[in-house]
Parts: sequence; C-alpha cells; structure tokens
Amino acid sequence: MSILFIGGSRRKESINAKLKHRLVQVAEKHTFDFELLDADALDAPIYHGDHEQAEGVPKAMQQLAKAVAAADKVVLVSPEYNASVSPLIKNAIDWTSRVDGQVWKGKKVLLAAASPGGLGGIRGLSHLRDILGNVQAWTAPLFACCPNANDETIAAMDDDFLSTFLSQGD
Ligand code: FNR
Repeated sequence: MSILFIGGSRRKESINAKLKHRLVQVAEKHTFDFELLDADALDAPIYHGDHEQAEGVPKAMQQLAKAVAAADKVVLVSPEYNASVSPLIKNAIDWTSRVDGQVWKGKKVLLAAASPGGLGGIRGLSHLRDILGNVQAWTAPLFACCPNANDETIAAMDDDFLSTFLSQGD
C-alpha cells in the first residue's frame, strides 16, 4: 500500500505541513509504504489555456501527475481560505487533470486540514471533495480535521482515529 502525502501550504511554519507530518508518523507505525511531497511540488503558474497551448502542462505538474498515478492512495492536507480550498491544490488539480490518462479517475483520496479556527478547515474539505468528484476521484468519507491547531493540539490527535482515517479505502 503506497500512500502519497501532499501538503497545500508552502508557509514555513505551516500547521497543515505539521498535520501532514503527524499523519506520516502514524503511517510509519503501521509500516505503510509512503511518499511525501511538500507543497513546493505544487508550484505552477495559475492555469492558463494559452500557456497550455503554447508550452503544454508544466514539468512540475507532469511529475505530480505521475506521482498521483503511481500511488494507491493520496492524502491531501489543505488549509482553508475563506471557507474554501487551498488555491495551490485547486491549481494542481486543474493542471494534472489536463495530463493524458485521467490520473485522478478512481484514485482513493483522503482529506485532512488544520486551522487555527474552531471548524478545523472542514468547509474547505467539502469544496475539495466536490472538485475531486469532478475528476472522478473516490474521496474517503472520514476527514481528519484539527481545529484550534497548534503544535500541542496536532500532537494530541488520537492515534487510533488517525490510523482509521489512513485505512480508508483499504
Ligand atoms: C485564512 N484562514 C482561515 N481559516 C479557517 O479556518 N477558515 C477560513 O475561512 C480562513 N480563511 C482565511 C483566508 C485567508 C486569506 C488567510 C490568509 C487565512 C486562516 C488559516 O487557516 C491560517 O492562516 C492557517 O495557518 C493557514 O494554513 P498553514 O499555512 O498554517 O498551513
């Protein structure tokens, strides 16, 4: 079982990157095979049809599409901005959906978020699920959200809950 973890914030002190590492710790305990992509791997110009026509899909987005295609599961850890999804993740889905082979079709995708707010980013994940539905991914029913997120609250997340979260789609 190979799990690809992708973060949606490039901020140095990103709480979503910290949540991603917390999930990776749990995956390590269960000896899941995994690959980590930090949010820099999602760096690409905002989708532009003329750019695509002139230069094709950017290299970074082609590599991302390959990594998604190779994984059994993808875990997306996305910050919430104005009650919606990380633009970095949305743009990456847009670009990778333009690569031949429909890399998201049937892919098992698990969604997680951390937020300093009380809702834990769940509204953004609902939007993300809709977007992924459009590219025919399978999204897991259980989200892993960390409200009031900081180092302590992320560390205190329940191991059993997180391993149940990661087992979805097995
Ligand atoms: C936010 N933030 C935020 N949080 C939330 O829970 N719901 C929201 O709708 C928003 N909206 C929002 C808009 C904008 C423009 C910014 C910059 C921030 C706060 C956000 O969750 C917080 O900045 C996180 O720390 C961002 O994630 P990383 O970078 O720490 O992973």
